[in-house]
Amino acid sequence: MIHPEYQQWRLDTPQQSLVLSSENAALPTVIYWGSSLPAAEDLTALMQMATYDINGGSLDQIAPLSVCPQASEGFPGQAGMALRDAQGKALWTNFCFKEQTLHENDLVLRFHDENLGITYQLDIVTDTANNLFTLSAKLFSDPAIYIDWLAAPVLPAPQNSDHTLEFSGRWCGEFQLNIAPWSAGCRLRENLLGRTSHEHFPGLIMPTTNADNNSGSAYGLHYGFSGGHKMLTEELSDGRRQVQFGHPTQSDRKLTNSFETAPLYASYSAVGLNGLARSFQGHLRSAIVNFPDANKPRPVHYNCWEAVYFDHDIDVLKDIAARAASIGAERFVLDDGWFKKRHNDLSSLGDWVVDKAKFPQGLHPLIQHIHSLQMGFGLWFEPEMVSEDSDLYRSHPDWVLGPLHQVQGRQQLVLNMSLLDVQNYLFTQISTLLSEYPIEYIKWDHNRVLPVVDAAQTQGVYSLLDRLRIAHPNVEIESCSSGGGRADFEILKRTHRLWLSDSNDALERFWMQNNAALFFPSEVTGSHIGPAHCHTSGRELPIAFRAWVAASRHMGFEMDPRELSDVDITIIKEAADWYKANRHWLHNGFIQRLDCDDKAVLGEIQLAADDSQFVAFIAQMEVSAQTLPRPVRLCGLETDSMYNISLRNPQDRAPTSRGAPVLKEHNITLSGQYLMQRGISLPVAFPATLWIIEGIKA
Ligand code: GLA
Repeated sequence: MIHPEYQQWRLDTPQQSLVLSSENAALPTVIYWGSSLPAAEDLTALMQMATYDINGGSLDQIAPLSVCPQASEGFPGQAGMALRDAQGKALWTNFCFKEQTLHENDLVLRFHDENLGITYQLDIVTDTANNLFTLSAKLFSDPAIYIDWLAAPVLPAPQNSDHTLEFSGRWCGEFQLNIAPWSAGCRLRENLLGRTSHEHFPGLIMPTTNADNNSGSAYGLHYGFSGGHKMLTEELSDGRRQVQFGHPTQSDRKLTNSFETAPLYASYSAVGLNGLARSFQGHLRSAIVNFPDANKPRPVHYNCWEAVYFDHDIDVLKDIAARAASIGAERFVLDDGWFKKRHNDLSSLGDWVVDKAKFPQGLHPLIQHIHSLQMGFGLWFEPEMVSEDSDLYRSHPDWVLGPLHQVQGRQQLVLNMSLLDVQNYLFTQISTLLSEYPIEYIKWDHNRVLPVVDAAQTQGVYSLLDRLRIAHPNVEIESCSSGGGRADFEILKRTHRLWLSDSNDALERFWMQNNAALFFPSEVTGSHIGPAHCHTSGRELPIAFRAWVAASRHMGFEMDPRELSDVDITIIKEAADWYKANRHWLHNGFIQRLDCDDKAVLGEIQLAADDSQFVAFIAQMEVSAQTLPRPVRLCGLETDSMYNISLRNPQDRAPTSRGAPVLKEHNITLSGQYLMQRGISLPVAFPATLWIIEGIKA
């Protein structure tokens, strides 16, 4: 065994360096995480510089803020692990370096506690192209032990930072971004809801002081797990700061010989939050999502939920399908209501057979009609759930997760997905339908929080999805959970689209999409044109706004097309045609958030991967404080390149607009420098106007 006094490891992408150091073979500490260090940097000097003084009133040694801070080392804050032996006695680990493997830029370090027979393993995988690290921690124990807490590798949080940006949310209001100021002590966000949740998206942005979307440095983290999580940020009394992510406490209660945290995706950007967005979007595209056919463009969806709800009449559905196809839909998704006796949300979950009363000849006639319209067919399922009024529950009440006296959610119970019998039953039910019918797409829903938090439940869902994907490799899957309740990188290893929210209110949707773009690229983010009178907010918004907000992501329709006027149809067709003509580069490009100087305006730019073109979507969200629009500064362009820009929809200006900003009538060619420094002048707009500015590099 090697026992050097100090060991260092350095990992690099072209934009950032991560340096770890271990003293006396102890667990290593991240001693540097930030912009790329020169190749000649002396890592020993870094380590020397990272050594703290000791002050009065302190222990005689400063316990390291290691990748897993140890209570046994006198760490004065939240420890990175909490273990107990089979009798429940706390275990005080004392790890010592054992071995390492370093392949190119991927590092595995193992530390062993000989007395206890426990090994801690740190894995770091480097995505050089996307400027991102994936970190995970594993524990192996000879005797079976209780692992009450194991954090994914712990990272130091920046000192030159006033606050973090956290995510919260609710049904129809996902991806809210909140400022959490740094202050003494520990801030805990624990998601015990058993799903990724609307309430606590497992991500954190740590901007340094004054960083914004486009400038300053920022750190971004995402814990890739769909069963809840625990996140803590802590400022110690000595001033150091740490951030920990892991599974929710109590989600793995069993005695075990091994445990592995979910992957923690981590990136640093020197160019504001947009650098992080680029890393997460790019990494997701290249390493997480796996489309059955990578060359198939993302089809325009039609989803019938808000048009008919549970009222499935085959003639009406056929009529709707024909109308949907005529305005541009390429895939028809039959939502909730198609299976045995499912007439409302009080019954039938678990009985995944076609309702004979609604579809006497099965789904074939409907699917044939849909195919004749050149559309693919998708079907809704909510596999993990069961209704009390169902054949499944009547024959298997023992398959329910949690106590029998639990409060139900949407009048439904949850199946215990850790049971192999449950997985087998669901596999057979779903696989039978996928074999009988040409179903190219599943909308996989999950409409309630769990009665108990249990990682085995999440692992059971992953296993079922993995099995179905092997058996039916051409089927795409959408992750829906009452909207965006299950949006994370681990579910996206098995699925291909996120139903970001049940809100089809385009004003709400626009800011949610803007925040979600910090992690998720356009092609996986579903967005639909809903009914004129929004079912979840009561608002009526202009069709142009609704259509183009949907066209800015993976586009779909969800309104009843029978309600559309000729004007609506023209506008929707134009947006859908534009989407189809541009999706090949939009879905390989990057969404970057604009820093808008008018607080009533929110915007983004989508840049082609080869930087040859862009589109900016700039929304007037409310009435501005001042009379005239402030120029909107674009971002992500090449300062020295010239761009020919045009406003696609000058006709959407406010009726009060009487002046002559150039884009009202003409295209214009300007430098990236000008467009990013001074910005573009737009016509006066009423709230719920979305400007579409297209740019081509001259
Ligand atoms: C959830 C989904 C909706 C719809 C309904 C069906 O609420 O988010 O899109 O599929 O279930 O019951």
